[in-house]
Amino acid sequence: MITNKTPLRDLAKKRGLAVGAAVNAEALRDDPQYRTILAREFGMATCENAMKFGPLRPSRERFAFDDADAVVAFAGEHGMAVRGHALVWHNMLPDWFAKGGFTYDDGIDLVRGHIHTVVSRYRGRVCAWDVVNEAFDDRGGWRDSPFLRMFGPDYPTMAFHWAHEADPDAKLFYNDYNADSINRKSDAVYAMVRMLLERGVPIHGVGLQMHLCAWDAVYPASVAANIKRFNDLGLDVQITEMDVRMKEPFNESGLLQQARIYREIMEVCLRAERCSAFVVWGLTDRYSWIPQTFKGEGGGLLFDNEGRPKPAYDALCEVLAS
Ligand code: G3I
Repeated sequence: MITNKTPLRDLAKKRGLAVGAAVNAEALRDDPQYRTILAREFGMATCENAMKFGPLRPSRERFAFDDADAVVAFAGEHGMAVRGHALVWHNMLPDWFAKGGFTYDDGIDLVRGHIHTVVSRYRGRVCAWDVVNEAFDDRGGWRDSPFLRMFGPDYPTMAFHWAHEADPDAKLFYNDYNADSINRKSDAVYAMVRMLLERGVPIHGVGLQMHLCAWDAVYPASVAANIKRFNDLGLDVQITEMDVRMKEPFNESGLLQQARIYREIMEVCLRAERCSAFVVWGLTDRYSWIPQTFKGEGGGLLFDNEGRPKPAYDALCEVLAS
């Protein structure tokens, strides 16, 4: 697909915003069209899976960096910033760790070692890390995880300090989903990050994942108020994983509804005092996580299965160019 339109990344840069995409390492390796679209349209990349604990650590002794290195190298070749995702998360943990039943002291050695090894490897090339991802359940309580079991509710404090030790220049984020507007979960996130700041913990921002549904109401004013309260704490905010899934069969009205939602969230981001990045969770619908997670749903991204731009892509370009 040849286009003479100004790429999304260039329109965004003029507005002081980084627009990015989550990168599927296999597609990056095997699909030339994927590489072309990614380099042309996006100024930021997040490894969709390659920097997670499980993919990086097939065993306690071995680190598997090849996929993450490939994404970071591609980003470097194409002037793209990189978000690191995700150092401490309850999901995609290898069994040797998740079922290891480690003691507090063993856990410290393991998790501090993991964070130090991974963050220092990409020092100067990863500008921001999702240090802790999805620590709360949807009611705003602590989500169970090996980290909570080993260290208790202090684990975010510990993880942020360890990441800062490894790269004092990286911007360190707490990242979560369904905490995009003002609700019980985002209240819990707000209370935690305020406590971290009061303790002098090196946290610099909050990631709002923004996994949305085209059939759901979106509350842009509430999202704006949520971003403002984090900004008022002195924190940056980034939209870190946006997609807007539709129910099959996808149709014109669904695509236009999707475009409207992308437009509204981009407008909120642009109007915010500090919303420095807008990252979509994938490049083309073909590689999206959604269909294997939500049967009969998908089409959540800016480019369709064939890599063609959708109305949502045009909507973002219009907002950024206006
Ligand atoms: O690589 C294996 C492959 O070898 C195997 O054959 C295949 C079938 O079992 O699984 C493959 O691993 C899958 C991996 O994606 C790579 O495709 C895992 O099963 C699958 O669980 C994993 O899903 C990822 C999911 O996080 C893990 O929970 C999605 O791609 C990824 O988009 C999704 O991303 C998360 C963010 O990290 C955090 N926020 C929510 C978001 C959506 O869940």
